[in-house]
Amino acid sequence: MKVSIIGCGLIGRKRALALSSDDILIACCDTNPEAAGKFGKEFNCRSYTDYKQLLEKEDADIIVVAVVNKFAKEIIIESLKRGKHVLAEKPLGRNLSEANEIVSAAKDNGVVLKTGFNHRFHPAIMEARKIIDKGEIGRVFNIRGRYGHGGRAGMEKEWRASKELCGGGELLDQGVHIIDLIRWFGGGIKEVIGKVETKFWDLEVEDNAFGVLKTESGVTASFHVSWTNWKNIFSFEIFGTEGYVKIEGLGGSYGPESLETGIRKKEGGRPDINIINYGPEDISWREEWKEFKSACQSNREPLGSGYDGLKANEVIEALYLSSKQNKAVFLD
Ligand SMILES: NC(=O)c1ccc[n+]([C@@H]2O[C@H](COP(=O)([O-])OP(=O)(O)OC[C@H]3O[C@@H](n4cnc5c(N)ncnc54)[C@H](O)[C@@H]3O)[C@@H](O)[C@H]2O)c1
Repeated sequence: MKVSIIGCGLIGRKRALALSSDDILIACCDTNPEAAGKFGKEFNCRSYTDYKQLLEKEDADIIVVAVVNKFAKEIIIESLKRGKHVLAEKPLGRNLSEANEIVSAAKDNGVVLKTGFNHRFHPAIMEARKIIDKGEIGRVFNIRGRYGHGGRAGMEKEWRASKELCGGGELLDQGVHIIDLIRWFGGGIKEVIGKVETKFWDLEVEDNAFGVLKTESGVTASFHVSWTNWKNIFSFEIFGTEGYVKIEGLGGSYGPESLETGIRKKEGGRPDINIINYGPEDISWREEWKEFKSACQSNREPLGSGYDGLKANEVIEALYLSSKQNKAVFLD
């Protein structure tokens, strides 16, 4: 596939490194000329500072959009209108209304839209999905997720700290992954209770969010996402009638990735426990890319689609509202 990447920051680079050997990265774009030039040199592709020129001049099959959130919607929609498949980094929109516009544009133009939900492709999470699909832990009824880091000095000045540039704080940043995973394992969400707060950092957006979510199939999920979790954490637990799975770590600063499966004994006591430890390499980006390409080739919905991105935005919006109104919010 011929690919262009718009946004040459941290994630644009990760996406470039995750391409398959039969892909050709033909062009990149960043409004920062230095970033665009460096990226073009590193990946041996043409570089632009105006995405419209890139779309005009380059004939890519797929556009990856990994820019500051505020600018994503326009770029994604322009790319979709030109008949390009798009991998749009999470969150799909800064809010639900942006996500709706984006998903409609994909539908209208008959192309594949994916949200950058690489967490679904972490090996422990993929394996948990298989274990649950085989029925090994029975019927799932509870989920508990924690995700966070401790922020960093000067983060007040980053684009993530701006409501206008980012759309929200930690709930939209890391929370969107946890919400996507809760939806993936627990099904459509019908009720939310949120507490969204700025506890420590001097920011106009939240640095902590708690949520309790109820799904249509009766799963109750709770989560806490935080920019004051001084030691990085990723923990995701799923409980069923016959046992549980527990995913810890994502590699790197989040600690080694592992999957613990416990199968309940009828007589009670310690369950039968099996632990898989995964290597340090983060393969999620490559795995996600392969699945997305296969979806583009057969014009089907990818795993972690635009619709999934939209539904995550919907839940996040409801959590903000619940926190503001101090009451549960029900979704249709
Ligand atoms: N999937 C994940 O786990 C994950 C992790 C981190 C970030 N992200 C998402 O990826 C996106 C980029 O984040 P990042 O960490 O790479 O940020 P970054 O600040 O490192 O990079 C963003 C880049 O976009 C460029 N840019 C801004 N506006 C532009 C425009 N109009 N046209 C072209 N380039 C433009 C900036 O100059 C910058 O180089 C965000 O949406 C973020 O939420 C996803």
